[in-house]
Amino acid sequence: MSTPFFKVEHLTKRFGGLVAVNDVSFEVQRDEIVGIIGPNGAGKTTLLRLITRILKPDSGRIIFNGEDISGLKPWDVANRGIAGTFQNTRPFRHLPIIANVMVPCLSPRARHRGEWVKRIEAKAMDALEFVGISDQALERASALSQGDLKRLEVARAIASEPELLLLDEPLGGMSPAESGLLAKSIQRLHQGGRFGRLHSEGPAVLMIEHKLKELMSIVDRVIVIDHGEKIADGPPGEVVKDPKVIEAYLGADHAAA
Ligand SMILES: Nc1ncnc2c1ncn2[C@@H]1O[C@H](COP(=O)(O)OP(=O)(O)O)[C@@H](O)[C@H]1O
Ligand SMILES: [Mg+2]
Repeated sequence: MSTPFFKVEHLTKRFGGLVAVNDVSFEVQRDEIVGIIGPNGAGKTTLLRLITRILKPDSGRIIFNGEDISGLKPWDVANRGIAGTFQNTRPFRHLPIIANVMVPCLSPRARHRGEWVKRIEAKAMDALEFVGISDQALERASALSQGDLKRLEVARAIASEPELLLLDEPLGGMSPAESGLLAKSIQRLHQGGRFGRLHSEGPAVLMIEHKLKELMSIVDRVIVIDHGEKIADGPPGEVVKDPKVIEAYLGADHAAA
């Protein structure tokens, strides 16, 4: 059997007495977009922060391209080819927007490392164009709306040309029209739709999102987390019919609908 592209095994994280992530295991294939859903406080963000190694798991393993990356530092994880966005955006607020994206372009992973700053700038501009904020490139990041900050985060994550892109509520703070557009852009990126001269093969995507309509329209599979535990893992059509999921997460909405 071939090694899976990405796999977490029995991942557990406690905060004091609270088990925020409880024995979670799943895989992501190289050609997949996988969604993560679940109620507020379920442990979704903690799970992504364990994968980027911003948090250290109490137990369990994270395997990427056949390598156990559980013991690596965050920058080593990034250099292996995993990049993500944060639920709470963290730009360099006083740098121009384009400079925010030029920093990850300088990552040792990024293909054009060592080339002229002009080249890096062009590449950062491509990433901004991809998410639709290139017209604001020279303004300060602090000038951006909440929705545009999310776009900037996505631009920064894709600028390092990750193989696995982790997204924590990238559509948060956006209008339905904006959400739909960014969701489609993520799908295009995944399918190898180049932005500028960057990607020939798009990244696998693991994406937390509350906006189910947009999420379900682009994912191959959905993982449902409740109280730190994985309660479902399957194609969107099956997961939304799962009684456990309806009870844990979709209950109120479904009853209303
Ligand atoms: N750094 C932390 N210290 C203590 N508790 C935390 C920390 N981060 C998250 N938690 C708790 O862990 C649980 C899961 O949080 P989180 O992963 O943010 O959930 P979600 O993203 O699914 O809404 C929550 O009860 C939250 O309060
Ligand atoms: Mg969260």
